[in-house]
Amino acid sequence: MKTSRPLFISFEGIDGSGKSTQCKMLYHDLLDRGYVVHLFREPGGTGISEKIRDILLDKNNTEMSPITEMLLYFSSRNQLITEKVTPALDKGEIVLLDRFVDSTIAYQGYGRSLPLSSIQKVADVAIGEVRPNLTILVDTPLETAEDRMDDRVLDRLEAENAEFKQRTRNGYLKLASEEPARFLVLDGRKSIEELKSTIASRVYQLLDS
Ligand SMILES: Nc1ncnc2c1ncn2[C@@H]1O[C@H](COP(=O)(O)OP(=O)(O)O)[C@@H](O)[C@H]1O
Ligand SMILES: [Mg+2]
Repeated sequence: MKTSRPLFISFEGIDGSGKSTQCKMLYHDLLDRGYVVHLFREPGGTGISEKIRDILLDKNNTEMSPITEMLLYFSSRNQLITEKVTPALDKGEIVLLDRFVDSTIAYQGYGRSLPLSSIQKVADVAIGEVRPNLTILVDTPLETAEDRMDDRVLDRLEAENAEFKQRTRNGYLKLASEEPARFLVLDGRKSIEELKSTIASRVYQLLDS
């Protein structure tokens, strides 16, 4: 088993962009190469966080206020980093997250127009200084992403309107432009294999440096 320095990678993008596909492939590739690696999805990844996920994604919860939504995402996230992410990184292991804090800024901030300063205050309490070393943004046009979700039963957020999704996508791109060193922005229209190899070369460069 390879011991390495801790490495924390998050995957971001709108629903149907292709991020889960990529993070699962990277997870298996790292395992095959002998790394100790964990993959968690957000919201979720712990018993408590999965219960919060059910509340968040339940389409019956039409009355949920934007602030309740934002606080629940951060509750789920705090539980995940406390129970799983920080202990793994402390042991020098690799953690892959299918969504992290950038999702909340993109969806609840840019998508729902909650003040970014409010989100930042909650982020300070809920996650402190915990940030990924690398964030892979799979940037995919809405139409392409929607085509890819054709056979999916949509959850509460996936069922949002196109304007919301466009604001969210643009929000992600703005975040990436503000922190170019942390973000790797990929054109999600490329093939699964092409995206996979671009991601692998960046990740193994980080692990080998
Ligand atoms: N680069 C790609 N090109 C074509 N289809 C893709 C690509 N990436 C993912 N898909 C397909 O699109 C669908 C949604 O991908 P998924 O990874 O679940 O997206 P997300 O996790 O961002 O919602 C899946 O059926 C997947 O096989
Ligand atoms: Mg997914």
